[in-house]
Parts: sequence; structure tokens; C-alpha cells
Amino acid sequence: MDELHHDQIAKWERRWIAGSGLMSLIFVILIAFNLATEGGHIAAVAARGTPETLLSQQIFAEPGLRITGPGQAQVSIVAQAFNFVPERIRIPVDTEVTFYLTSRDVIHGWQVVNTNLNVEVIPGEISVLRYTFTRPGTYLMVCNQYCGVGHQNMLGQLEVVTASDFARVEDDAMVADVLDGAQLYAANCASCHGPGGAGIAGAFPPLAGHAAELAERSRPYLIDSLLYGLQGQIVVRGTTYNGVMPAWGQLSDDEIAAVLNHIVELGGPTVEPFEADEVAAERGKGWSPADVLEFRRQVINQ
Ligand code: CUA
Repeated sequence: MDELHHDQIAKWERRWIAGSGLMSLIFVILIAFNLATEGGHIAAVAARGTPETLLSQQIFAEPGLRITGPGQAQVSIVAQAFNFVPERIRIPVDTEVTFYLTSRDVIHGWQVVNTNLNVEVIPGEISVLRYTFTRPGTYLMVCNQYCGVGHQNMLGQLEVVTASDFARVEDDAMVADVLDGAQLYAANCASCHGPGGAGIAGAFPPLAGHAAELAERSRPYLIDSLLYGLQGQIVVRGTTYNGVMPAWGQLSDDEIAAVLNHIVELGGPTVEPFEADEVAAERGKGWSPADVLEFRRQVINQ
């Protein structure tokens, strides 16, 4: 009787072992099949350090696309709350692209829809991976790691174009390299403050009308909040906000002036246009977001 019982158990054990062995085999075959048909796109870590040291590297000085040779390009992207810099990148088709990604603040995700590009973007690391787009089209970039209140708005686009379209657009860009405050706003500010500057109640203060009022009280404050960011509790029109405004010091003096001019035109009193040298004068203070908050308490009587 005991003997028989033991045999029964051994039989079931063999079945379970065979079953799990088969499952492992199927997984290995699936992975091998994917690698063979799609290729492996596992990101390597190219460098580690603080976000500041990584962002000061040459490759991130001007994020975006660089053609490095025939059929070869580099694309660098900075992920930050809550957008990708740059938000739109034009890439020629059939070009082997080496992507360099890093985060300015918290962990983000970078997924390119309809491809197998999917990387966790970690502050203090540069992730590198290669990919060749073989079909023109617009590919959506999304952040797929929850990173804060604006996470769902963290989107971007890769525009894959034919070689001739790419050449033509590059020429156009050379000719029309004008600073467009509205475009800068759409790329950098709209994901939190809204396309028309209405803000999000309780999360991001409104800019339409309010920014122009602030400019009347203190133009340097408005510039400083862009250059150095702002962190801590503020009250805008009776609503308390306790968010984080990232610093936008990576924008040039001209760009900051252009985007401020767009913002003060969203409503409110008429403001004399901001000039680049006015922004330049505020640079070099080396302020922290907390310093800006303190300055706000002094000059803006909220
Ligand atoms: Cu960045 Cu979610």
C-alpha cells in the first residue's frame, strides 16, 4: 500500500516537472522569436552621476537629433516633470539612431508606441539604445511611469520622414529660425499650465492674466521663477498651490524673453515686452527655488 502511494506521488511529480520544463521552454522560444524578428533593444547604461553632471555633458547641451554620418544619427532626450525635451524630433527614415536618455528629476518612462522602444529613464543614469525606423510616420512618445500630477500629459512625438523631406525641412528650419514664444510655451509650459494658461485648480496656478499682474509688481520675479524654478506654498487668487515649478535655465535669454512675452499676452494688463538683456541680468544669481519663493513673499503681496 505504502509502495503504491509513493509511486502515485512520483508520477505526479514527474508530470509537474515536465509541465514546468515545457513552460520554461516556451518562454525561451518566445524570447528567441522576438529577438530574431524585432531585434534586441535593451538599453545599456552609458554613464552614472548626478543629474546635474550628466546634463552638463555635451550630448545634452542641445537635446535632439544630430546626424553623425551617412545613415547614422544621435538623438538625446531629457525627461523631466512633465515633458520630454525636445517634445518633437524629426528623424530621417532608415537611419540607425542611437538614443541617449536621462532624467532631470524623478524616474520617468520612455515608450515609443508601436515599436519595442521602452526604457525606464532614471535620474543619474544615461540610457543608450539603438533603433532604426524603417517606415515614415508619426510615433507617439509617452511616459509610462507614474511621475507626478502631470504624468498623463507627458507626451511627445517622433516624426519619421523620408530623406528628401528631412533635407527640405532642415533647409526651412535654417531660414525660419525665429523665436516663437507660443511654440516655446506649447513645448515647455502647456503640459502643466494648460494650452491657454488657465492652469489646473489646486495643482498648477493659472498664468493667463495673473502673469501680467505679476510683471506689473516685479519683472525680475517673473524672470527668476523661470530661471531658477519655484518650490513651496503659494496662494494665487485665493487658491493654495504647493507644487514644483522646474527651473528653465537651459533656455536661452532670448527664449525666456520670448516665452514670457507670450505668457503676459494671455491676458491681464499690457506689459512692456521682455528683452533678452533683462533676462541676462537675472542670470548668475545662482538662486534656489526656495530663494525664489522668499523673493516672491517680499515682492508679491499675496
Ligand atoms: Cu514622466 Cu510619468
